[in-house]
Amino acid sequence: MDAAQVHDRATYLQVAQLHAAAIHQGFLPMLGAEFLALLYQSIDECAESVLFVEREAGRVIGFVAGAKSMRSIYRQMIGHWYRLARALIPIVLKPRHIWRIVEILLYNRADGGGPNLPTYELLSIAVDDGFRGRGVARRLYMRLVDHFHAMDASGFRIAVGSKLDAAHAFYRGMGAVEVGEVEMHQGKNSVIYVHWLQTNRLTAS
Ligand SMILES: CC(C)(COP(=O)(O)OP(=O)(O)OC[C@H]1O[C@@H](n2cnc3c(N)ncnc32)[C@H](O)[C@@H]1OP(=O)(O)O)[C@@H](O)C(=O)NCCC(=O)NCCS
Repeated sequence: MDAAQVHDRATYLQVAQLHAAAIHQGFLPMLGAEFLALLYQSIDECAESVLFVEREAGRVIGFVAGAKSMRSIYRQMIGHWYRLARALIPIVLKPRHIWRIVEILLYNRADGGGPNLPTYELLSIAVDDGFRGRGVARRLYMRLVDHFHAMDASGFRIAVGSKLDAAHAFYRGMGAVEVGEVEMHQGKNSVIYVHWLQTNRLTAS
């Protein structure tokens, strides 16, 4: 995976805004654009993770993020300690939010619903609603598939909020299979999918 930052700050902010607008279920949008932008910058900078974007007239209209593990991303975020501290101020004032962050960390440490799942993971994908249904997500997903394949991954997992209906249809259509369910945030479930690469090799065109 790319060992250096590929995109610029304006891109991270646009990705953060798209995440907050498109992915309604889940906790991350509550952490604010500043935190999300730093998260996506860290994903982009980290050697074990990747961020692909699609643009239209210079603006981000879709993105996908994937990683071999979250640990190096957290480490990268801590490297930006000043921005991280600033982004975390509104969060530490709300203990409920801290507990949810702990839940996210626990999910990643617990392999997200099963012991033999791949460590590689599709972290998030979103397309601006004005550009959906035109194959943007399919292209982004295929870039990630090819990327993980080049990393010799046997497959990758995806945690999907149970209410994100379009996402479930999309992942199933792309060849991911449901392998279980995990409680992410106090009663809110996520379905865990795996896209196996050895038996499901797909090639971007
Ligand atoms: C899910 C999402 C990324 C799909 O983006 P998209 O660019 O519209 O998807 P594409 O046009 O590339 O569609 C790819 C395939 O998925 C299927 N698909 C996409 N959206 C679908 C929907 N709402 N219902 C049923 N199938 C859908 C399409 O049928 C298509 O298959 P085809 O190529 O055989 O026709 C988009 O709806 C989105 O951003 N949703 C909100 C964010 C989200 O939930 N992200 C997942 C978080 S885990």
